[in-house]
Amino acid sequence: MTGTEPAATRIDTSRPHPARVYDWFLGGKDNYPVDEELGRHIMSIDNRAKHVARTNRWFMHRVTRWLAGRAGVRQYLDIGTGIPTEPNLHQLAQAVAPESRIVYTDNDPIVLTHAEALLRSHPDGVTDYIQADVRDPDRILDQARKILDFEQPIALSLVALLHFVGDEDGPLDLVGRLVDALPSGSHLVISQLTADFDPLGVQRGVEMYAAGGVTLAPRSLDAFGRFFEGLEVVEPGIVQLTQWHPELGVDEVHDGDEAVSLYGAVGRKP
Ligand SMILES: C[S@@+](CC[C@H](N)C(=O)[O-])C[C@H]1O[C@@H](n2cnc3c(N)ncnc32)[C@H](O)[C@@H]1O
Repeated sequence: MTGTEPAATRIDTSRPHPARVYDWFLGGKDNYPVDEELGRHIMSIDNRAKHVARTNRWFMHRVTRWLAGRAGVRQYLDIGTGIPTEPNLHQLAQAVAPESRIVYTDNDPIVLTHAEALLRSHPDGVTDYIQADVRDPDRILDQARKILDFEQPIALSLVALLHFVGDEDGPLDLVGRLVDALPSGSHLVISQLTADFDPLGVQRGVEMYAAGGVTLAPRSLDAFGRFFEGLEVVEPGIVQLTQWHPELGVDEVHDGDEAVSLYGAVGRKP
C-alpha cells in the first residue's frame, strides 16, 4: 500500500460518510448506525435509492468490461473507489486481461481498513491502494507513477465521486490536472449526480446529506460535459447511466425505464 499516514486511519462514527452510506445502499456490512440512519432517511423520500446505487455500480462494471475488452486498456487509476464490493474493478479488468495494473484511491479511512480485498490481484497483474484525496492530484499522481507506466494509456475513473467535490474546490481544474498527466489513448470515466430529471427530489437529498455534514453537488448536462472538454466522448455519448452500453450488462435487474439522476460518460484523450 502506498502513501498511508497514521492520521488517515481514524474512523469518525459521529457523522455519516459517503463510502459507508453507499455501502449500506449496496447491502454491505461496513457501515455504522449514523450511515444507516441517513440511508433510511433518503429511502423514505426516494425508495429507489438502493436501486440507484446498484445502477451506478453496474455502470462501473460495464465500463470496465468495455475498457478492457473493446478499448484494450491494461492500466487503471480509480479515484473514490469505495468500500470493496465484488466484483471490484480489478476483478473485472483482470478477468479479461490478467496482467492489468490497477491503482485504487480513496480518502475515507474505512476504505483503507478494507483495502486488503482490493490488493488480491491476479498474480500476473498488480493492484495497489493509495489513501489520498482527489483534491490533491499531485500526490495521487506521484504515488501512482510507482505502479503505472504513464507512457502507456491509463483509464482514470471518477465514478460517483465528483458530486462530493463542491465547485469551491475547483473540480474542473482537478480533473484537468489528472487528465493532463495521462498519455494519448487514455480514457476518462465519470458518473455524477444531476438534478436535471428530478430537481425537487435531488434537492431534498442534497439537504439531507448537508444536515449530515456532507457536500453533495449535482451538476447539469452542460457542467458535466465540461469535464470532457478536449476529449473524444465515446459512443453513446453523455447519457443517463442505464443507457451506457446496456448490452454489456450481466445479471442486472432493472425495475423500469425511469431515469436515474446520474449522468455517465467515457472520454478518450486524442
Ligand atoms: C458513492 S462512493 C463510489 C464508490 C465507487 N467509485 C463506485 O462507484 O462504486 C464515493 C466514494 O468517493 C470517496 N470520496 C469522496 N470524497 C472524496 C475525495 N475528496 N477524495 C477521494 N475520495 C473521495 C468516498 O469515500 C466514497 O468511497
